[in-house]
Amino acid sequence: MTKKILILPGDGIGQEVTASAVEVLDFIVEKFNLQFSINSMEVGGTAYDEFGSPIPSNVLNAAKEADAVLFGAVGGPKWDDLGWDDRPENALLTLRKELNLFANLRPAFLFDELSGASPLKENVIKGLDILIVRELTGGIYFGEPRGVVEDQKPNYAFNTMIYNEDEIRRIAKIAFESAQKRNGRLCSVEKANVLEVSKFWRSIVTEMSSDYPDVELSHQLADNTAMQLVLDPNQFDVIVASNLFGDILSDIAATLTGSIGMLPSASLDSAFKGMYEPCHGSAPDIAGKDIANPIAMISSLSMALRYSLNEEDISDKIDLAIKKFVEQGYRTIDIATEDNYLKTSAVSKKIIEIIDNE
Ligand code: IPM
Ligand code: MG
Repeated sequence: MTKKILILPGDGIGQEVTASAVEVLDFIVEKFNLQFSINSMEVGGTAYDEFGSPIPSNVLNAAKEADAVLFGAVGGPKWDDLGWDDRPENALLTLRKELNLFANLRPAFLFDELSGASPLKENVIKGLDILIVRELTGGIYFGEPRGVVEDQKPNYAFNTMIYNEDEIRRIAKIAFESAQKRNGRLCSVEKANVLEVSKFWRSIVTEMSSDYPDVELSHQLADNTAMQLVLDPNQFDVIVASNLFGDILSDIAATLTGSIGMLPSASLDSAFKGMYEPCHGSAPDIAGKDIANPIAMISSLSMALRYSLNEEDISDKIDLAIKKFVEQGYRTIDIATEDNYLKTSAVSKKIIEIIDNE
């Protein structure tokens, strides 16, 4: 059956890195004779400028129908003063919620050749390979009630951190199963020393662990995990966390690799349809210069092939090509130590060449 792919480049470097990934996609479609229907639409600030909404309803509908959405990045100073509904970031949260993308997989890994790019010492960081499984459609991001009260003294604002047991179970299941496929260790992160919702989270995850005797489960408080990620990141295999804690910890983990421009992510629903985006943002300061690193986006395409498009072998080929690219000494500006780096558009050509020769 033809699989549907929707391309949403978005804003800033989202446009360039997506164009690069689409070159790779077009190449593999042709080379491996894949039956994909590929459609591209605007989202974020770019869509707001053109259609008056960061996520027009036809875009949302197309995303709902797609098997995989490749999402570049959204946002930029141009749209910073808009109200929440019009802001580019709203497109992201609407897509996550409306598409039920509750499972956010954020790998953080380090190529040996790039360990010098990490802010940590080589002996601490070498071999880093972590998967953060972040809950993405619940918790304090979406909890009700929420609001601002401006007719009282003092005025106040509030949000609600809430999880029901089903929400915890479905994300923990993904995390346990991911650990089974990796190195068998899962660390569940919360603030059970302070928050009821965290204590509840811990009890559900603990209860589930008897179904996964092959997974070694540990629990950590989120502030400690922030510290442990910097002190001894290799203690972790899979980390599972709520929406807010996962947001924060995944930025720390990504930074450890020294190259956020290399890291992909997947956001999945229960049927493994998903949205795939680089961990980096729209980087308005370097947009339009053809210097952004498109590897995170190309790697996100690889995740899409693996999880949503049933093309694991081709995903392996792309991953191998990225590995060879790095091993052969090719660099983009963000990870280059000298002046000889490849431009965005040259990276996809190189990756294509490597896949073609594999
Ligand atoms: C992320 C981002 C988003 C989030 C923002 C842009 C709304 O930080 O994907 O991690 O907080 O989830
Ligand atoms: Mg974030």
